[in-house]
Amino acid sequence: MNESITLTDNRTGASVEVPIVNGTVDAREWADLLPGVYFHDPSFGTTSGAASAICELDGDAGYLRYRGHPIEQLAEQVSFLESAHLLLFGELPTRLQFDAFTDEIAEAAFIHENFHKRILEGFRNDAHAMGVLVSSVAALSTFYPEGKDVEDPTIRRSQMIRLLAKMPTLAASAYRRSVGQPYVQPDPDLDYTTNFLTMMFRPAEGGFEVDPVLSKALDLLFLLHADHSQNCSTTTARTVGSSHADPYITLSAACGALYGPRHGGANEAVLRMLEEIGSYDQVDDFVAKVKTGERRLMGFGHRVYKNYDPRAKIIKDAAHKVFDVTGKNPLLDMALKLEEVALADDYFVSRRLYPNVDFYSGLIYESMGFPHEMFTVLFAIGRTPGWLAHWDEMLTQNSRIARPRQLYTGKATRDVVPINQR
Ligand code: CMC
Repeated sequence: MNESITLTDNRTGASVEVPIVNGTVDAREWADLLPGVYFHDPSFGTTSGAASAICELDGDAGYLRYRGHPIEQLAEQVSFLESAHLLLFGELPTRLQFDAFTDEIAEAAFIHENFHKRILEGFRNDAHAMGVLVSSVAALSTFYPEGKDVEDPTIRRSQMIRLLAKMPTLAASAYRRSVGQPYVQPDPDLDYTTNFLTMMFRPAEGGFEVDPVLSKALDLLFLLHADHSQNCSTTTARTVGSSHADPYITLSAACGALYGPRHGGANEAVLRMLEEIGSYDQVDDFVAKVKTGERRLMGFGHRVYKNYDPRAKIIKDAAHKVFDVTGKNPLLDMALKLEEVALADDYFVSRRLYPNVDFYSGLIYESMGFPHEMFTVLFAIGRTPGWLAHWDEMLTQNSRIARPRQLYTGKATRDVVPINQR
C-alpha cells in the first residue's frame, strides 16, 4: 500500500504527494502548496501540535506507555520518583542515580519562610486549594529569577528539580493554611510521598506515622497521572513555554488549565456528582438526565481513549487495598452501579464513553482524608514531571513560538462613527 496522500489545488491543478508517517502528514507540504489556506481545527482534535518521545497512548487499543514502558509494568514495579526520572531524563534510574536524584529532591523541598508569611497568609481562609496552588507556583518565579534563562540546559535542570521537589510542600502548605494548622517542614529522611502525607496530616503535637499501604497507593496514583501526551494542561505548558516564559510561570499556567472540571477538576466533580445523586436507587434517574443532555457523567469519556482507560483499571484495583485500611468509601457502591448502568446503555456504548482516570481516584483521596478541594492539587503533583519533561523537550527542539492562525468570522471593514453620532 502506498503510505501517502496526494493534495491537489483544484484552482491551479498543482499537486503534491505527502508521505504518511506514524499516522501523520507534515503540514509544511500543505503550507507550501496552499499558502494562505489553513486547517480549521479549534480543539486540535485532528492536529498534532508536537513531536514527542515522552509518552505514547493509543485510544483504540487502550494502552499507555512512558518512554516505551507499559503503564501496567510501571505501576507494578517502580515508584513515582523513578517514573519522574524516566519522563524527565529518558531512562529509569540505576540505584546510584536514584539515590542521588532522591537526595536532590529532598534538599530542594523546602520553601522560603517569606513564602509562608507573606504570600500564603494573604489568601482568604476559604480560598480553593487550586487557586492557591496556581498563584503559589507563579510566585516561585520571583524567588528564582535565574529560571528565566530557559536556553541553558543546566539551569533548566535545576528548576525542574526545584519544581518537582516543592510541589508537595506548596500543596501541603496550602492545605494547612486553609485548616488553620501550623506548617510542617519537609523531612529529608522520608520518601517523596510519605513526606507529603506527613506534611499534610501530622498533628501539631506530633506523633504521626503514615500507613505504608496508603503511601504506596498515593505514590501509585501520582505515577498514573505523571504524563498523558498532549492533554490540555501539557499543551498549555508547551504553548506558554514556547514564548520562553520561565518554568514557574509555565507550570502555573498548566495548573490553571488542569483546574477545569473537563480536565483535572473532574476528580472533584465526580465526588460532588456522587454526593448529589445521593443514593443507589437514584442512579437510573441520573443516567436518564445524562442521556437527555441535562447532566454530564463526570469521570467518563475521553478525547483520545475510546476504550477503557488503562489507568482507571489500575486505580479501581488499588481502591480495594486502600479501603482495606480506611474502610470502604460509602460512595463506592453507587460508583460501581453507575459504571455498570452506563456500560450497558447504548448512549454510552455508541459514543464509546468509558470511565477515565478520574472516576475512581476521588473515592480513594476522600477515604485517605483529603478534602475535595485538594483532589485536583494531587493530580497537579502527579502531572508535574510530565509538564516539565514536555517543557524541556520543547526547548531542546528549538520549537518556534506557538501561534495558530484564526478563521475570522466578524464584520467586514467599516468606518468608525464618532462617539457623539453613535
Ligand atoms: N457524559 C455524557 N456524555 C458525554 C460525556 C460525559 N462525560 N463525554 C462525552 N459525552 C458525549 C458528548 O455529549 C457527545 O455526544 P453527541 O455526539 O451526542 O454530541 C459525545 O459523547 C462525544 O463527546 P465530545 O464532547 O466530542 O468529547 P470530547 O473529546 O470533546 O470531550 C471530555 C472529552 C473528557 C472533555 C468529555 O468526555 C467530558 O466532559 N467528560 C467528563 C469530564 C471528565 O471526566 N474529564 C476527565 C478527562 S480524563 C482526565 C484528564 O485528562 O483530565
